Amino acid sequence: MYRSHSCGELRASNINETVRLSGWVHKSRNLGGMTFIDLRDRYGKTQLVFNEEVDKNLSEKAAKLGREFVIQIEGKVAERSSKNAEMLTGDVEIIVSKLIILNASLTPPFTMEDESDGGEELRMKYRYLDIRRTPVRENLIFRHKVSMEVRKYLSDQGFIDVETPYLIKSTPEGARDFVVPSRMNEGQFYALPQSPQTFKQLLMVGGMDKYFQIVKCFRDEDLRADRQPEFTQIDCEMAFVEQEDILNVFEGLTRHLLKEVKGVEFGDFPRMTFDDAMKFYGNDKPDIRFDMKFGELNDLAKNKGFNVFDQQELIVGIAVPGCAGYSRKDTDKLIDWVKRPQVGASGLVWAKVNEDGTYKSSVDKFYNQEDLAAWAERTNAKKGDLILVMSGDTNKVRAQLSALRMEMAERLGLRKADEFAPLWVIDFPLLEWDEDTNAYHAMHHPFTAPKPADVHLLDTDPGKVKANAYDLVMNGNEIGGGSIRIHDKTMQATMLRHLGFSETEAKAQFGFLMDAFEYGAPPHGGLAFGLDRLVSILGGQETIRDFIAFPKNNSGRDVMIDAPAPLDNAQLDELGLKMK
Ligand code: AMO
Repeated sequence: MYRSHSCGELRASNINETVRLSGWVHKSRNLGGMTFIDLRDRYGKTQLVFNEEVDKNLSEKAAKLGREFVIQIEGKVAERSSKNAEMLTGDVEIIVSKLIILNASLTPPFTMEDESDGGEELRMKYRYLDIRRTPVRENLIFRHKVSMEVRKYLSDQGFIDVETPYLIKSTPEGARDFVVPSRMNEGQFYALPQSPQTFKQLLMVGGMDKYFQIVKCFRDEDLRADRQPEFTQIDCEMAFVEQEDILNVFEGLTRHLLKEVKGVEFGDFPRMTFDDAMKFYGNDKPDIRFDMKFGELNDLAKNKGFNVFDQQELIVGIAVPGCAGYSRKDTDKLIDWVKRPQVGASGLVWAKVNEDGTYKSSVDKFYNQEDLAAWAERTNAKKGDLILVMSGDTNKVRAQLSALRMEMAERLGLRKADEFAPLWVIDFPLLEWDEDTNAYHAMHHPFTAPKPADVHLLDTDPGKVKANAYDLVMNGNEIGGGSIRIHDKTMQATMLRHLGFSETEAKAQFGFLMDAFEYGAPPHGGLAFGLDRLVSILGGQETIRDFIAFPKNNSGRDVMIDAPAPLDNAQLDELGLKMK
């Protein structure tokens, strides 16, 4: 038996018991004939004591143990003279009588402390050591808790967990596919699923009615803090449902998770249309933990002699609470901030609402006190607030002011990690104009149904067509999205035609789905949560890498196993991929 107890288990009530522990040498100190070792495992740390006067050999052996050696000990639990309230086992220590070295360790390249001295790249290379650190381990355990709660909740609601294949044909979700060459079908390739979208729809045709799967998805896209090339979805689909049914079920799941893993209770989640989200927050995933709602100023700010504004499509501002005291230097710095290429604005106009009710602005030459009072009213600015105004093309200026809003919230400490603000964004447009290709793209995916009342606009004004498509947003992050699907072959064919697929292409790529629609496809819809994102937001962080056991870096590499890697010629040959 390697151990009678874990390293996080012993308390004062165990004093005088003989115990056996196994674990890693976390720290070792030598103090006048006594060697103290903190022994660590997943559950905690326990102090071991070796006394030279009691057993010289044993004590010498202990003094030679290096950090991260794996050992097994036997000894007696004793009361600690100087108790350590920070450690769960801080009331006791073990007077060791037997020591077995189970395995030696090289000196690790960084410390296993909560605040490690290892940089990110180094910790990724030795991720198995990084996982020994408490914050990483806690994150993985937290993820386990969330996914267990998800399984329990959905299973209790009658959802069936069905696995779908990974070696498939392209399912468009807006990214590039990762492809896998087929040895047995030379020159042909599988695509790894960007999501199980078409399969879950086929399961509805198959009568499964309520499906879920916690499933890996693969997308070859540019990486960011909230994106990985392989990530996990909680993927769900239901038959005979309308949007309202789906929102209710998954709001229920989210509420359950918030309660079970965070202890916070929520009533109904607020809902906002896509159009309002863009108008009031400049963004389809607004962070509503704080206010700073956009106020549009066109009617108040144009034709007052300020040329810059006169020519612009949209003039829009926010009121930043309590920042009227900003100095000239502070506002100049903000102007520099919005001019950075990441934001790309040409400038920024400011107006202060002084405590005495007067106004001071960077454009006092053009706007009098009355004008500025109207700005304040429109942006909901109070005494002591700073109004920041930007202008430009509608879409661009909204994105820029949205970035500034988030930055100001960050500076003011309004993006609190332990506060949760879920929000449904609904009524997304069906299509989105893509400047690069000069064509419409499906905003969600090509299987999303247009709102029945808007179908007639498909030919005349496609950009206006709305869909029963929705996202679940939390703290400014899109944690899930879904839609009501098309379940009719003719409609699906029409949609693909609008997206620029020829009839032959549509048949080649999605013929199987359209064929299935001819055999009694029920009305259906669903959604998928990004599990990594959901877990990291619930965990109070926004970098999903911290909640993935073996993540990829920003170039899509696994630096630990050194992947991707070239193949040798023999393997390339076998796959029919050898360079000619
Ligand atoms: P969508 O593409 O919106 O929808 O994806 C669903 C959720 O998955 C998460 N997500 C990601 N997380 C980490 N890294 C990525 N690269 C990444 N890409 C997406 C997001 C997102 O909200 N089949 C549809 C769902 C449906 O219609 O039912 C789909 O995949 O949190």
